Amino acid sequence: MKETKTLWWDESLGGIRYIDQTLLPTEYAIAGCTDIDQLITAIQRLEIRGAPALGVAGGYGVALAARTCTGPSFDDYARAVLRAADRIRESRPTAVNLSWGVDRVVARFLAANDETSAKTVTLAEAESIAADDTRCCHAIGEHGAALLPDQCTVLTHCNAGALACSSWGTALGVIRSAVAAGKQVKVIACETRPLLQGARLTAWELARDGIDVTVITDSTAAHMMRSGAIDAVIVGADRITGDAVFNKIGTYMHAVCAKHHVIPFYVAAPLSTFDATRKESEVTIEERGRGELAVVGNRTLIPEGVPVKNYAFDSTPMDLVSAIVTEQGVVRPPFDIGALLSRSGPVP
Ligand code: MRU
Repeated sequence: MKETKTLWWDESLGGIRYIDQTLLPTEYAIAGCTDIDQLITAIQRLEIRGAPALGVAGGYGVALAARTCTGPSFDDYARAVLRAADRIRESRPTAVNLSWGVDRVVARFLAANDETSAKTVTLAEAESIAADDTRCCHAIGEHGAALLPDQCTVLTHCNAGALACSSWGTALGVIRSAVAAGKQVKVIACETRPLLQGARLTAWELARDGIDVTVITDSTAAHMMRSGAIDAVIVGADRITGDAVFNKIGTYMHAVCAKHHVIPFYVAAPLSTFDATRKESEVTIEERGRGELAVVGNRTLIPEGVPVKNYAFDSTPMDLVSAIVTEQGVVRPPFDIGALLSRSGPVP
């Protein structure tokens, strides 16, 4: 299986290289950003997307700010870097990994006393976020693979794969690790309206690895669950509060449906996705533009003047979740997240 690297620091560019995810599956292109405006645009256009990948991008973003910001004194320089960090943190609101990645590197930045060391320590910390993320995904994969039967059909939503992380993936990491262990796993990928991360990205990644994948419309999921065609549902997460799992819009309906049909509903996510002290009601769900729903190619699908609602995420209450797979192991109801976080040691 190929280890797809989604984004990385390129010293010769003096910036971040990444797979432009808006172009897949028809075009595989590596793009680059050398300033903070470009990075923010790449995040907001979903060229770089997926919670763990946003954490890595946030980290590299602060390293990029440390390289590109200037000021007549160290204090002015530091203020400029911290302003840039704030802008990156706020570029998408729902995935907590973004602010987590920014904050982890900002903490290193704040301990630096001069520009040279600020540049060195921020890049080193960003690199370590990327390396940790890959290790987390493999550990999640190993823990989660044990949950899947030797032969099964698994439904997933959106893309929680290598493209959403630094590599390997969370939900797709579980599937990859299960297949690597010799299990026969078939994947049903929900297309994931409106930006089609399932159809475009999950199908691309899995087909490339030779994993059996079939794409369905999001609304086909209930029909397949009812007809006994789905053995488990596994998804990633953008944020896990004490009481709910936030993930791509449509996840909640799969969880309700899985509960109704007594199908296990698994969430795979690193501890960096947990925001245990917050409640569901405190989280901002990103709403995106009308164009994503109303226009496909050069066709307008919705009459002018008719409003749309384009929520990018939804939240699934914990009582619908069968287990959460983390790099530290599998947690089951009643989900003592505080205890899980307190026993978290170094990334395996
Ligand atoms: O809007 P996106 O494409 O960034 O949304 C991504 C998702 O919802 C993923 O399922 C989530 O980030 C988990 S990725 C391991």
